[in-house]
Amino acid sequence: MAEVITCPANIVDAVNSLPTLPDTAIRLIELAKNDDYSVAEVESVVKSDPALAVRVLKVANSPFYGFLGRISSIEHATSLLGINELKNIFVASAMANYFADGSQRGYLLMKRVRDHSVKTGLVARMIGEKFNEADVSEFFLIGLIHDIGMVVFAKHAKEDFFNIVSDEFVETEETIRLEKETFGASHSETGALVLENWRFPFSIVYPVLYHHEPWLDTNYPLFSMIMHFADFLSHLTEDDPKSQKQRMQIKRFLGTKGAKMISDSGFDLTFDSIIDLRGRIDRLLVEAGDVVSLFA
Ligand SMILES: [Fe+2]
Ligand SMILES: [Fe+2]
Repeated sequence: MAEVITCPANIVDAVNSLPTLPDTAIRLIELAKNDDYSVAEVESVVKSDPALAVRVLKVANSPFYGFLGRISSIEHATSLLGINELKNIFVASAMANYFADGSQRGYLLMKRVRDHSVKTGLVARMIGEKFNEADVSEFFLIGLIHDIGMVVFAKHAKEDFFNIVSDEFVETEETIRLEKETFGASHSETGALVLENWRFPFSIVYPVLYHHEPWLDTNYPLFSMIMHFADFLSHLTEDDPKSQKQRMQIKRFLGTKGAKMISDSGFDLTFDSIIDLRGRIDRLLVEAGDVVSLFA
């Protein structure tokens, strides 16, 4: 893959010092890029990592996938779930290590980022269905890793980063401006560089790069737009649906470039349709159960 993401040297160094994904996850990502893999090949990769193989069975049998205890072997999981879902489970399992932080403030903030990431994955999957996208499982993965640039900041410039995002963990135009001013790159650019290093496909790298400015993406604008929308909705669920703050957040969002892009794509975006989506997401989160713990 040609290198497309440019970041200043301090960020490149920080990204390079992030522990790489387990070999098994990298091999599944590579296999999934082509159509000519065999099921036997996938099985042998999964089985080469017994701890992850056990996790695949646990996740495959969770309410999240709806097979509820009916998958008893890796062969069965591979044929039922397919390589893309297996890849997602592997990456999701590996992600838990990245959100770990020893300090108390860091622990709480990283927990917020992790919970937000899983939630954004679930919401992106739901929004992807609304846009009739074929491979919605990919959206779960993109949601899960869309803010991984923040993990880089948290590990390498802890205090600076914590002061920018605050304990509540917000992602506003102002936080992104401060990231650029402080680190020379935003968490979106930094995250995209991480994923490029991990050899993720462009269909994942670009939506991460542009999840705060989807209108700039000329390669995967729809994916970036779905992630932008999912990110907003995911943050929206952090507040009381009937609060004044919530009404203000929705009204503000409706006036943004991102909202215009969503409307222009044919989606009926209004105050009421967002309230309706918020209700659906609350129900989805209840149905999904404690998905976070599956990946922790
Ligand atoms: Fe973000
Ligand atoms: Fe986010």
